[in-house]
Formats: sequence, structure tokens, C-alpha cells
Amino acid sequence: RPSSFRPRMTAIRSGAGVDTINHVLTKLQKECATPLPVLRHVADSMANDMRAGLAVDGGSDLKMILSYVDALPTGNEKGLFYALDLGGTNFRVLRVQLGGMDQRVIATEAEQVSIPQELMSGTSEELFDFIASGLAKFAEKESGEFQLSQGRNRELGFTFSFPVKQTSIDSGILIKWTKGFAVSGTAGKDVVACLNEAMKRQGLAMQVSALVNDTVGTLAGAKYWDNDVMVAVILGTGTNACYVERTDAIPKSPGKKSQSGTTIINTEWGAFSTGLPLTEFDRGMDAESINPGEQIFEKTISGMYLGEIVRRVVLKMAEAESLFGNSIPEKLQTPFSLRTPHICAMQQDTSNDLDAVGSILFNEAGIESNVRARQIVLEVCDTIAKRGGRLAGAGIVGILQKMEHDMKGVIFGKRTVVAMDGGLYENYPQYRSYLQDAVTELLGPALSEKIVIEHSKDGSGIGAALLAAANSKYKHDF
Ligand code: GLC
Repeated sequence: RPSSFRPRMTAIRSGAGVDTINHVLTKLQKECATPLPVLRHVADSMANDMRAGLAVDGGSDLKMILSYVDALPTGNEKGLFYALDLGGTNFRVLRVQLGGMDQRVIATEAEQVSIPQELMSGTSEELFDFIASGLAKFAEKESGEFQLSQGRNRELGFTFSFPVKQTSIDSGILIKWTKGFAVSGTAGKDVVACLNEAMKRQGLAMQVSALVNDTVGTLAGAKYWDNDVMVAVILGTGTNACYVERTDAIPKSPGKKSQSGTTIINTEWGAFSTGLPLTEFDRGMDAESINPGEQIFEKTISGMYLGEIVRRVVLKMAEAESLFGNSIPEKLQTPFSLRTPHICAMQQDTSNDLDAVGSILFNEAGIESNVRARQIVLEVCDTIAKRGGRLAGAGIVGILQKMEHDMKGVIFGKRTVVAMDGGLYENYPQYRSYLQDAVTELLGPALSEKIVIEHSKDGSGIGAALLAAANSKYKHDF
């Protein structure tokens, strides 16, 4: 019949193309799949790599850095403290007035400054001068509700969210930059000394009392309010996790002792790479990155990269056929034109004609799309977000398993809180629920009920200030 003839013609004409895109999509979905056995393997490998990294330096991809945070804030801390947070696209400054056990946090004030792109690949002095001058301007605006105790200097908790070999609670050497930073002259140097010199150049009198990773700041900040917090995870531009470890379970540091018998270990899990389901798109992105072969877990699950992976897939689809318009837009060919906030925003579009998806594709990638093309892009976004969220969940379970194995009952014998922070976790609901699904699937309903995954907003800033207080140069005055 003629009526069945026409659709068939249409189907055949667009059929060849749709098959090609479908082929890219199906292959992607297959390669990114994270069924339970894959998650298990990742969780087990995370636990094994943690042990190997604790055994000797360089024992695995995981650096398992000693934080020198042996004493967590108790609640008794009092006085005015500052925090400075450098770790991603922004740096934040914060001041907090602590009132001791009864009053806890009396007042806080914070400011955020975005870091100009050129400073991320400039010199160490330029970057630290920029930060110190932001801090100095902020410190000038200290009002009457913040009171510095007599005879004290202003003290600072410095959250520096890159791999640092700590040499004490208030010093540490940058191992390497991550997350797109390529600042010359900092690697191998004490970052506290870099900051001190810059503060001196700015005429700012402040003393760094604690140098912490953002995960460690988050854990300290969250534990201040809830003692069941045992793990902290950042899912933002980059990703990382830290946890509470027994000091006698760190073979590479046999002399390590603390009053509590525990310390915090910064895993630097972004460097994990065992058993990850990767694709040609991940490999391409890694090869062209400023740190090829490094931070593979981070490149698979964190905010800096998810949008870029999606862009690479869509580019391949556009090259395969003309569903996205006849020519390949320049923007689509530009690395990092599509960013994670865009793919997240697209996934929130539930309208029939996917208008929001269409305008994001047009504005950010120069793509003119029909509804079918938009649906396909959404499938790509979902595949990449799902893989990321589920692998992050598997990583968390790996840490919990390692802790439970070595400290029986500490994790699953009671309520345990995993404190989460970072823009990716905070703003991407699909990612968040994929993460939770993976944790529940891996642990089963009974155990997963004991694990509370909780957003600890801006915990790391307050946490750093608290750690500055707990490690105050004047702490014996309390
Ligand atoms: C990167 C850094 C790490 C940090 C994480 C989250 O992985 O190397 O130190 O904690 O990003 O910001």
C-alpha cells in the first residue's frame, strides 16, 4: 500500500545515518556499563590499592598521604580564625568566630573570587600574590562582631586541594598540580612558604596554623557537628576522599602515634585506575590533557571532565552523519566547550520538545538540533553521568570495606556518615542518585541503611578554620 511505502522510504533514507549514531551510542553504553561485578571489582581494587599505598610510598596509584591531622576539633575552640580555600575554579576566603562548646560558631563571613584562566598557567608568584591580595582585602573588612583575642595574631587554615606531601600540620610540598592547573615553579616547594612570602609582599600579618586538603577540611568540619563522620568525599572540579585510619595500620610510617590512636589519611583517589570501564573518548581526552596517564579516576567521574567526554562523543556522532546539521560546528570541535553544568542542565529538561537541550546545544556547541538529536545527546549525558556516579559509589564502598575489614564493627556496627561536598555532588541530582544506587547495590539493603551519605555544604572552609583553631599556636591558652 502506498501509505506503507512512504514511511519505509523515509526510514531507509535516514536509516543508514541513524544506524551509525545508534552504533556509536550502543557501543558507548556497552563500554560504560557498570553492572554489579564491575562495581565489585572497582570497590575491591580500591580497598587493595589503599592497603598497598599505606604499605610503602609508591605502593599503588593511591598516595595515601598522612594529613598530620591527629586532633580533630573538639568544640572547645574559641576565637577568630580565617580560612583560605584554593582548589578549583574559585578561591574562597572565610572568617569565623568560634565560641567554644556552648556557642560553637558565633559568626561567619565568606567571599569567593574566581581565578583568572591565565593565572592557572602562570608563575607561582603570580598565583600566590593574587590569592594573598584577595585575602588581604577580605581581612581589611573585619567588623566588630569578629574579635581577635588580645596578644594573638590572626591565624589561618589553608585548604590547598592538590596532592601535597605534608611535612607537618602546617607545611607540605606540592607533589604536582591537578585539575587543569599548570603553574610553574610550585611543584616541589612548600606551599605554606609560598603563601607566607606572598602575604609578606602584601603586608598581611597572618599565620598559617593548618595546611589541609579539602577532603580533610570537609571531614573535620562535618565531624565537628556529627561524630559518626568517618569518611569525606569531594566531587567537584576534581575528586578525592579521606578517612579516619588507625595509626598502627600505616606500615610506611611505623613511628606514627597520636593520642586518639587515629589519624586522617588523604587517599588522593583521583589517581586510582584499576578496573575502570574506559572508552576511546576517555583515552583521547587523557592523551590530550596536560597530565596524560594521570588522575584517571578523576577524569572518569569528576566535574571538570564529564562535559568534555560528552562533547567528544557528540563530535564523533556529528562526524558520523548529519543529524546535528550538515557541517560540524567549530564550537563542537573546541575542547571543553561543553561543560558539566551544561550536561547537568540538559538532563533537567523534561519537556516534550526538549527546548532547553536545544538551546544549550546551540549556544555552547553551535549545534542546530531536532528532537531526535536532542534525545540522543541526553542518552549520552546520562550514560556518562551514570558511569561517573556509580563508580564514585563503588569507590566509597571500597573505602568502607577497607575500614571495616581492619577495624571490625567500626563501620557497619553502627551508623556511619560519609560527608560529601563539591559542586558536582551538590548540583547534579541524577549523578547523586546513581551514586547512591551503586552503594545500595553493593552493600545490600541491611548494611546500606547504616551508611548515611550526607551533603556537608562548605564544610571544608569551616573545617580548615576549625583545624587552625585546634592546631593554634596559642592553643594552650584555652
Ligand atoms: C584533585 C586533587 C585533590 C583534591 C581533589 C578535589 O584530585 O589532587 O587533592 O582533594 O582534586 O578537590
